[in-house]
Amino acid sequence: MDPFGRHIDYLRVSVTDRCNERCLYCMPEGYKGWAQRADHLSADEIVRIVESSTDLGFRKFRLTGGEPLVRHDIVDIARRIWELPGVETLGISTNGLMLRELALPLKQVGVRSVNISLDTLDPATYQKLTGGRLQVALDGIEAAAAANFEIVKLNCVLLRGINEDQILPLVEFGAVRGMPVRFIELMPLAPGGPINDGHFFSITEAMESLAVHDVLDPATNKPAGHGPARYFRLRRRGAHVGFIGSITCADFCATCNKLRLTADGKLRPCLGRHGEIDLLPALRSNNVTSSGLADAIHDAIANKPENHTFTDDYQNHRPMTAIGG
Ligand code: 5AD
Ligand code: SF4
Repeated sequence: MDPFGRHIDYLRVSVTDRCNERCLYCMPEGYKGWAQRADHLSADEIVRIVESSTDLGFRKFRLTGGEPLVRHDIVDIARRIWELPGVETLGISTNGLMLRELALPLKQVGVRSVNISLDTLDPATYQKLTGGRLQVALDGIEAAAAANFEIVKLNCVLLRGINEDQILPLVEFGAVRGMPVRFIELMPLAPGGPINDGHFFSITEAMESLAVHDVLDPATNKPAGHGPARYFRLRRRGAHVGFIGSITCADFCATCNKLRLTADGKLRPCLGRHGEIDLLPALRSNNVTSSGLADAIHDAIANKPENHTFTDDYQNHRPMTAIGG
């Protein structure tokens, strides 16, 4: 339990801050703040941290980045985490570009759920927003469908004037593939760039725009997931749709169950607060005991703030790509 009575059992593990895309809302243009390679956790170190966290009650794990699939040993990392006692579920969040090659290997080593970013079905907008090619991501999504993961979800960051016309097309794209689409409010994680507060589009507006075409019934059983999304089922289309209102939902943080581990070995109790606890000293000094690591994780839980401060004093020190999506 953290100081606010939340049971923290979910660790999001960023395995790299590198990415093969350049999403404008995630990475400031010309970003140069990359972690030094030597600071990146090794596969062994990641596994040690996850193992230590299971002793403290962590059960759910998700690999993120940057783009986790650009790490050459990602399948090995997934396999080793899945083999640890206490690990109940393992997911991965990806932009999908490399899933054509990696979906099946990841499924085979135990990855259960895959979240794929898909902000638009328009190739030109996709290119402008991410720097990548839509068709490659779509091929990755088909590969994920073919690999028979327990659940594949699509993530769309809502952006006024950029993809608000894509809400229904994305829902329908997901519906025919049995993939819930989740609409996410823009968080100010790459300020100073071309995406700013003017692009903010709330989940309420997204729900209203869907309600013009269909009826949103609150979902009785939420699709496998342990995050903060609220799910609905579109009555006529049968589609599952999730909404992540990190900015406008007053009680968003009340059920937060996670910590983040950055690729350079810092535990971050909250995405929307700067506090981090560096694990490298406990990991890399010669006379470490595993209790040093456990103490540090315990500290991070004890220091988990009640809520994020995106709407008031948030100052950007690290963009999303450096923290872990
Ligand atoms: N606001 C909201 N979500 C973001 N993501 C990245 N940057 C932001 C942001 N500024 C999320 C997206 C992406 C995942 C890697 O992280 O959902 O798909
Ligand atoms: Fe890369 Fe994901 Fe960030 Fe886009 S959102 S730049 S795909 S890490």
